[in-house]
Amino acid sequence: MKVAAQQPAPLSGAPGVPRHVAIIMDGNGRWAKARRLPRIAGHKQGVEAVRRVARAARELGIEALTLYAFSSENWRRPETEVRDLMGLLRHFLASELDELISEGVILRVIGDYTKMAPDLVRMIDDAVARTAGNPGPVLVIALNYGSQAEIVAAARTLARDVADGTLAPDAIDEARFAGALATRDLPPLDLMIRTSGEQRLSNFLLWQAAYAELVFVDTLWPDFDGKCLAAALEQYGMRERRFGGL
Ligand code: IPE
Ligand code: IPE
Ligand code: MG
Repeated sequence: MKVAAQQPAPLSGAPGVPRHVAIIMDGNGRWAKARRLPRIAGHKQGVEAVRRVARAARELGIEALTLYAFSSENWRRPETEVRDLMGLLRHFLASELDELISEGVILRVIGDYTKMAPDLVRMIDDAVARTAGNPGPVLVIALNYGSQAEIVAAARTLARDVADGTLAPDAIDEARFAGALATRDLPPLDLMIRTSGEQRLSNFLLWQAAYAELVFVDTLWPDFDGKCLAAALEQYGMRERRFGGL
């Protein structure tokens, strides 16, 4: 019997591989607390997990990976923690950009990141611009992101077009609405993962998750790695997606 040639690494769009995966990276604080360390230590390890998982996602052939890094509600945390998180973001952008470029990754940001410090806004704009022409995959970081605000902004954009007379109210359908969201040019969301045992969406990609498969794992984000991602993809592969049909 002929032995099949070894398969190459899965390509984007490989059967069973979700095109777009989103992760609510939760549990950094609890990871640190369990070790009697300050919360920042958990966030630092969380950044290491981001590097590992972004790499693993590329190897698995995922076209778009969207990571929830800072929610519009996370400003409610103590000022020192917010400052630490912004510092880590600066560090991540500075240290990771070369690898993202050499790996052909397109970096994108969703959320109102312009409310962050001016130097950070410049760093983000620069990183996004320098990776825009890459072939992909896409790494999307959600910063100062809130799904309800995103939906409201889309409604406002469409309302303006109606008021201008450039859009008829009847022309607003699901596709038109999705086209006004920050995720407009990303593949549909297939899989949403949340770490740390919490089972809620915390204002993340509410519209986009309409038919996404949800996977909740107890692993705390700093412990999450390529194996955990592969395990979530395996669960995804066993789900039967019906989209309301039979
Ligand atoms: C997720 O970890 C990171 C961010 C929200 C920025 P948390 O900081 O929420 O960790 P827990 O939930 O307190 O353990
Ligand atoms: C969600 O985690 C936000 C991010 C992972 C960035 P939170 O820890 O802020 O969510 P809640 O407060 O537990 O819902
Ligand atoms: Mg949390």
